[in-house]
Amino acid sequence: MKKIRKVGVLGGGLMGSGIAQVSAAAGFPTTVREVSEALGEKSRLAIEKSLAKGIERGKVTEAERSTTLGNLRFVTDLKELADSDLFIEAVVEDLDVKNSLWSQLDQIARPDAIFASNTSSLTIIAMATASGRPDRMLGIHFFNPVPLMKLVEVVRTITTSEETEQRALDFVRALGKEPIRAKDSSGFVVNLLLIPYMIDAIKALESNVASVEDIDKGMQLGAGHPMGPFTLLDFVGLDTVYKIAEIMFTEYRESRYAPPPLLRRMVLAGMLGRKSGKGFYDYSFNPPRVSSLGL
Ligand code: 3HC
Repeated sequence: MKKIRKVGVLGGGLMGSGIAQVSAAAGFPTTVREVSEALGEKSRLAIEKSLAKGIERGKVTEAERSTTLGNLRFVTDLKELADSDLFIEAVVEDLDVKNSLWSQLDQIARPDAIFASNTSSLTIIAMATASGRPDRMLGIHFFNPVPLMKLVEVVRTITTSEETEQRALDFVRALGKEPIRAKDSSGFVVNLLLIPYMIDAIKALESNVASVEDIDKGMQLGAGHPMGPFTLLDFVGLDTVYKIAEIMFTEYRESRYAPPPLLRRMVLAGMLGRKSGKGFYDYSFNPPRVSSLGL
């Protein structure tokens, strides 16, 4: 079975940067493709910032930082990724955008190269045809923040070969992460359970069971979660949670996955959580304060 040596990462946003960082840190020459040089630079700076924080916390050594940075390249031309053994896609959650990339890559990638999507909401099989290699296409789903979260879901479709799945599992272990295997059904394992949990927290707030702070405190101190559900919603992004919930609702047609009205209204208001400065909490205050939602 051919080992993965070189990695190509498509998209240098939050997830793409994190994936590139852990891949480079594990010794894989890793090329990040962004659509502009400015975005490539933004990705490089994000990785440098994370490494600096890791050093500050005593979790990353100077040697690890230079290995990681030495293994990274940032490009805009897809052709520069042609010699990758594994492509991990972390671009916008838009099937047309992803499929256009896969079909371009199929023209230039080696026949034995594996195509992996980090999608959290789309069905992997919907990309398999465009990839031109349905047996070598699968999902490799990381969690945010990628350098800190140990878990990676390895998602097989109905056409993924056993060898492809095995190569992906070996790659994830080589990153020092813990893989779990999942089928290509919406939500895989973690979001299948996490999305209804976050939805239930919003419903509890809508029906005035308790305040944002007390629901968060309840799950942190009563169930040992590192973050309460509203802090987590703001951390993941309300638009992202909304989109995943919509897709899961469309797939399963069960009300437990339906996005609650308050979530939709907050997304419409541009209250997307930490990334927009305001969600269930207002991040213009330090420490953040609960937002007024007119409830
Ligand atoms: N590099 C390396 N290590 C770092 C680091 C860095 N840049 N920054 C922090 N660390 C280390 C710290 O030293 C600490 O290690 P220790 O526990 O051994 O002391 C550990 O990482 C935790 O760091 P912090 O103390 O800064 O932060 P917290 O204790 O507040 O934890 C957190 C932060 C890990 C984000 C934690 O709050 C958490 O696990 N939250 C839940 C996150 C979660 O659920 N993510 C999944 C979201 S869902 C998703 O991604 C799926 C998608 O499809 C939607």
